[in-house]
Amino acid sequence: MQLHFHKKRTIGVRDEMIYGHFIEHFHRQIYGGVYDPASPFADEDGLRTDVLEAMRKIRVPILRWPGGCYVSAYHWQDGVGPVRTPRFDKAWRVEDPNTFGTDEYIKLCRKIGCRPYICTNAGTGTAEEMSDWVEYCNLETEGCHAKSRIANGYPEPHQVKYWSIGNENYGTWEIGAKEAEEWSRLVLESAKMMHHVDPTLELSAAALSDLDWNIKLLRAAGNFLGWISIHGYWDGLWQDNTLASYRESMAYTGAIDTNLLQVRGLLAAMGLDKRIRIAFDEWNLRGWHHPNAHTIQQGVTKDDYLTPRDKNDINSQYTMADAVFSACFLNVMNRNCDIVGMANFAPIVNTRGCIYTYDGGIVLRPTYHVFDLYVNHLGDVVLDSWCEDAEPVTFPKKGGGEVTLPALDVLATAFSDRDGLALAVCNRDDAAPHTLRLPETAKRAVIYTVNGPSCDSYNDVDRNDVVITTRELSDCDRITVEPHSVNVVELY
Ligand code: AHR
Repeated sequence: MQLHFHKKRTIGVRDEMIYGHFIEHFHRQIYGGVYDPASPFADEDGLRTDVLEAMRKIRVPILRWPGGCYVSAYHWQDGVGPVRTPRFDKAWRVEDPNTFGTDEYIKLCRKIGCRPYICTNAGTGTAEEMSDWVEYCNLETEGCHAKSRIANGYPEPHQVKYWSIGNENYGTWEIGAKEAEEWSRLVLESAKMMHHVDPTLELSAAALSDLDWNIKLLRAAGNFLGWISIHGYWDGLWQDNTLASYRESMAYTGAIDTNLLQVRGLLAAMGLDKRIRIAFDEWNLRGWHHPNAHTIQQGVTKDDYLTPRDKNDINSQYTMADAVFSACFLNVMNRNCDIVGMANFAPIVNTRGCIYTYDGGIVLRPTYHVFDLYVNHLGDVVLDSWCEDAEPVTFPKKGGGEVTLPALDVLATAFSDRDGLALAVCNRDDAAPHTLRLPETAKRAVIYTVNGPSCDSYNDVDRNDVVITTRELSDCDRITVEPHSVNVVELY
């Protein structure tokens, strides 16, 4: 396959926030995940130092919290102050001790070195509760909430710039689900009050690819929004934890941009695409497994709805399928970096995340290494590249049918602060290596590869089959990449 691009033909400079992450009060993401005061790895704030180090290594740029469905009945004041109020979390039907709240979250972000991004309760919450949360976080001393923060030991404002109003309030599964008209009015009034507290906020609101929902939302509240939030999970495993195979997962890579392009088109049609950016603020190949909880019919016994969630922790489920899909997803975000400014892997710790915690340490799942390569070796200037003579591969679709896609998915980048080029080259084909011919001979190429012995390779407590390997070539005009692999190629 022949690669074409010209350094002067660019799509844009990608915002580092497209490599963002999400963490929710669900299963072991917070309690027993990043926050575990009883762990031997815990620091003075109860945060796991091994997890913090891993998050720093992939330079997490922004972390969305506290949900997700959890947030739609969450009241932030339960989670601040010397006395915390344990609440029954009606979204996930467990008790939340609220020992991890806003101040602990801000400390987490400071220790990682990332921007905080708070999603507010637009389910049972009100415009006043959301704007009070902004007071608590961002006002110096004015009013009771800022004074409460100071009394809690935080004299300086937390300076939270990024806020999202609501989470999936369009869905019947969401607590406080709303019709489009009701939603647009709530977002307008909430955004107005939040901006009255801090007019420098960057606000997003829950959206999807539905025209009616988005048109009403943008007409009513578009003047207050700098972002619109969408989500994507392709292998829907909420009820049935029968995962798509490697080849079925590759079929999904042909449908990553469907919703994104619809929202992008609507923003352009409304003349908003130069002012409002897209935050793809929850994404993962794998939907989370939580049977009989995201549904109208709720489970009765804990074996119906609670203990099955432990199946999210099975590390052998997370293979090169997750790695190659995630790399293809990040390629799509880069190619749309002129309107996509943020994306958040859902989640970062445990469940379907890239970091798995256990008493003795952490496991870096294959997706973690994809972020490592993209964040630390790809350029920030996205080139408008195209490929010729792509070798086609046909993949089966889960549930029937098939789709034919190019074996290689390629992204070309340059650097705004230095010379050089870097390519992301994903080989979807699990059966054969493929060769990418370069537009010109490179004096030197450094190739970083994420891969394992097979497409089903994974990492676990007692195995480390998926790793990053490095090789160098000189005077090369082509790169051959292994089957089922993710590669970042630095060209000099
Ligand atoms: O399956 C987890 C849920 O997925 C998140 O809480 C929600 O935002 C999305 O529907």
